Amino acid sequence: MTIKAVVFDAYGTLYDIQSVAAVTEEAFPGYGDIITQIWRIKQLEYTWLRSLMRRYEDFSVVTRESLSYTLRVLGLAHDAAAFDRIMDKYLHLDLYPDALSTLTALKGRKLAILSNGSSDMLNALARNSGLDRVLDATISVDQKRIFKPAPDAYTLIESKLGARPDEVLFVSSNPWDACGAKAFGLNVAWIERVTPQAMAEACVKSDVVPPLTMFKALRTQMDELGLTPDHRIRALSELPDLLAHES
Ligand code: LAC
Repeated sequence: MTIKAVVFDAYGTLYDIQSVAAVTEEAFPGYGDIITQIWRIKQLEYTWLRSLMRRYEDFSVVTRESLSYTLRVLGLAHDAAAFDRIMDKYLHLDLYPDALSTLTALKGRKLAILSNGSSDMLNALARNSGLDRVLDATISVDQKRIFKPAPDAYTLIESKLGARPDEVLFVSSNPWDACGAKAFGLNVAWIERVTPQAMAEACVKSDVVPPLTMFKALRTQMDELGLTPDHRIRALSELPDLLAHES
């Protein structure tokens, strides 16, 4: 297998979606964690529901609607300015600490993002984080008007980069996305940032499961979908070594 392109999921893989907790906690002291977790869970849920219903709206709409849902169900009154301040964080999410150094080490292969994010969101995120300096492309599913893990979304990799699925390594920390990419026929590296051991410890130690632990149980453990990633890694920084040993 000769890997000609390494394609990354954005939210949760290169960018830490938990970093919105800084602004949600500032806006609603004491609610930062539960807002962050319900928001992400609902955001993903809405991408899946809109894809199944064939009622596509871009990721900025879905992100706004899931935030609106979250604040409403928590009974958190807010003005437009507070809402927009929280939304703006999605254009300034924290990069994972090893993201820039890993992509820099992988130069020589085509490097891209394939994300549910809208083109505007992704371009702003890549620019604000400096990742635009090392990426060859940021590919949004917008053009297909359907979200990952729909197979149609992954066809954008070959059409944009000219690399066949067997020449691509797709990298995601989102189990549902790793499974979708594997189902499509890509080589897949899943970043297992929360191990089953850490998961079990987090649950057994507390009689009340905090929202972040519930999120980890729902969205960070490999799903039972009959699909297995080719590689399970713990961090982006393992990729240069992994690829150095690929034929
Ligand atoms: C992405 C998120 C939804 O597609 O994982 O970047």
